[in-house]
Amino acid sequence: MSELHEIEHPLIEHHLCTVRDKSTRPSEFRAAIGRLSVLVGVYATEDLATRTCKIQTPITDADCETLAVRVGLVPILRAGLGMVEPLQQLLPDSAVWHLGLYRNEETAEPVGYYDKLPHSGAPNVALVLDPMLATGGSVDLVIRRLLSWGVDEIRILSIIAARPGIERVLRDFPQVKLYVAVVDPELNEQAFIVPGLGDAGDRIFDTPQNE
Ligand code: PRP
Repeated sequence: MSELHEIEHPLIEHHLCTVRDKSTRPSEFRAAIGRLSVLVGVYATEDLATRTCKIQTPITDADCETLAVRVGLVPILRAGLGMVEPLQQLLPDSAVWHLGLYRNEETAEPVGYYDKLPHSGAPNVALVLDPMLATGGSVDLVIRRLLSWGVDEIRILSIIAARPGIERVLRDFPQVKLYVAVVDPELNEQAFIVPGLGDAGDRIFDTPQNE
């Protein structure tokens, strides 16, 4: 069964104010996306498999737990890049596999422009990073690509996700887990999330399109 995890935490509420506020400067926006990414990332990794290992502390032997799965980070360009470094803080040994997509402004359909995934070597667990899930079209394309690559388990990490996109993913990919900081109710006629935060990619990289 698909799983939706909308994470409840006062720090998430607090930092969501910053990213939603249109007067937030790009540097503050990036920092808040980073903090939210860490909070979502902690929850999205809480049940990863571990195995016992023996180590020696400076004092004595100790049984410890170490990750038993290979985790790959899959940012969707561009906006997903804003979530990479915070997730690398949590998972420093994870490979990063970039996929480039943008939405056609007329149709809101995703258009792929970058994909250099190799034929083999898929991670056990892929954490797909994108601050926004709107119609779900971009994530749909990425999930299909990762399944064809041979990833065992796919988890989507998003900051703001709209109800229509969530329902699409839950319906079409029962094996995928979704971790989001907040669920917004709807999309407007341009398929932007309402109330949302505008265009995360443009705000992270300070490239406003309509000024
Ligand atoms: C945004 C966002 C997602 C996608 C979500 O990217 O970062 O990738 O749209 O929309 P969907 O769920 O309807 O597919 P955008 O096309 O603005 O590209 P950018 O990251 O380069 O700004």
